[in-house]
Amino acid sequence: MKRIETERLKFRPWRESDAQDLFRWASDPDIGERAGWPPHKTLDDSLTVIRTIFSNDHTWALELKQSSQVIGCMGYYPYGESNIDIGEHDAEVGYWIAKPWWNKGLCTEALHAMIDYCFDEKEFDTLWADCFVDNPASGRVMEKCGFRDTGRTNQLSRLYHSQARPVKIYLLARQKNNRFYPHQQSKNTLL
Ligand SMILES: CC(C)(COP(=O)(O)OP(=O)(O)OC[C@H]1O[C@@H](n2cnc3c(N)ncnc32)[C@H](O)[C@@H]1OP(=O)(O)O)[C@@H](O)C(=O)NCCC(=O)NCCS
Repeated sequence: MKRIETERLKFRPWRESDAQDLFRWASDPDIGERAGWPPHKTLDDSLTVIRTIFSNDHTWALELKQSSQVIGCMGYYPYGESNIDIGEHDAEVGYWIAKPWWNKGLCTEALHAMIDYCFDEKEFDTLWADCFVDNPASGRVMEKCGFRDTGRTNQLSRLYHSQARPVKIYLLARQKNNRFYPHQQSKNTLL
């Protein structure tokens, strides 16, 4: 599999030995509640997530190159695993960054790299993303990476919150035969 790297970050598979780091970050309610999953309550919760939800070829730990510390997670959901009504050749992206590293451009940097991977290696047609309407930081990351707000919202009732909460839906389409990178000067053709 092609390695995904950025200036400051390395994407790598999650390891069971990451459970302590994962628990440290994922027990913070400001992470899971904004992303739609319950905060981890025990180290065992984190180990179980690594063994199940993160155990695939499309979910990565984000490791800081400088310190080798795991500080976030990024991945995509292929057709059949997405909450959004995506096409067979599409994927939905998702991510979080540990709170001490917020607002340093790290998620934007990582998402640019994953967009390249998803279009150039996996050849998805369209990438989708969603975020709760009250999570502007996530929407801003999507916009900085070229995603467009579709104007559509979903009610994500099957997430752990007791009440359905609206999410905004974004998309970024691949321009076939004339590959462009949305983070360069954009001649971006969106759907
Ligand atoms: C959303 C998240 C991944 C962003 O990570 P990050 O590394 O801080 O993102 P970046 O630094 O690349 O960009 C953040 C942008 O949001 C902006 N932002 C932050 N808080 C904001 C707010 N309350 N309102 C508007 N914009 C905000 C920042 O200013 C920055 O934009 P700028 O570069 O134009 O100034 C991180 O906050 C996080 O993990 N949140 C909890 C989990 C989550 O929401 N996951 C996404 C689920 S859809």
